[in-house]
Amino acid sequence: MIPVPRLLDLFCCEGGAGMGYHRAGFEVVGVDIKNQHRYPFEFVQADAIEYVLEHGHEFDAIHASPPCQAYSITKHGHSVQYPELVEPTRAALVASGKPFIIENVVGAPLLDPLKLCWSMFHEPGSVLDDDGTPLRMQRHRLFESNVALLAPRPCRHPKMQVAGSYGGARRDKVEARTIRKGGYVPSRAVQQRLLGIDWATEKGMHESLPPVYTEHLGAQLLAAMEAGADR
Ligand SMILES: C[S@@+](CC[C@H](N)C(=O)[O-])C[C@H]1O[C@@H](n2cnc3c(N)ncnc32)[C@H](O)[C@@H]1O
Repeated sequence: MIPVPRLLDLFCCEGGAGMGYHRAGFEVVGVDIKNQHRYPFEFVQADAIEYVLEHGHEFDAIHASPPCQAYSITKHGHSVQYPELVEPTRAALVASGKPFIIENVVGAPLLDPLKLCWSMFHEPGSVLDDDGTPLRMQRHRLFESNVALLAPRPCRHPKMQVAGSYGGARRDKVEARTIRKGGYVPSRAVQQRLLGIDWATEKGMHESLPPVYTEHLGAQLLAAMEAGADR
């Protein structure tokens, strides 16, 4: 039995991923290049890769969410070049020798990843919009790990209004559906209910994992660590 396992939450932003690991039973320390006042656990402002190379050995497990802009489908609209941090992050995590999980968007160069979807954790339509419309979210995210990870159940995508939480989208359902062909973003309160987050800014929610994803993965990480410790 490991006493209180410590998890290093790299590229932590406002702590969506960190909250899930906390709920799974980890003591969480977050690292971000920007000061994150809303991060709900111990926080260090630093470059994630430099930090893990120096301090990774002090933790029992490591999660990393390098910025996704270089890989996301919206990149075609940007003139800016974004750094591709997945490979250097993986190299640093492998060098740490610790159990790790790297998260990113669909399209990122993750190895043999597990894909999680909002509908694996929530009944589509279980969250209502402010006008009573039943909503579902997708928030597909990929997870690479050196521990075997499983999804709770398959994705379900019934025909229903899809809601997102990201910048540059519209709060008008009809415009989202007819002009933008997607991209509907409900009010902040509804985004909070969809994501299961009540402490973050709207911008923080745009970047965030739903904590339920990492609560599910964190439980598997702990089980693998305990099985390893028993051997
Ligand atoms: C996609 S967000 C992470 C979201 C987080 N996992 C969550 O669930 O809330 C990526 C974060 O990486 C941070 N970041 C970008 N470059 C960084 C670097 N070199 N070192 C540390 N953090 C960095 C950004 O400030 C941003 O907060």
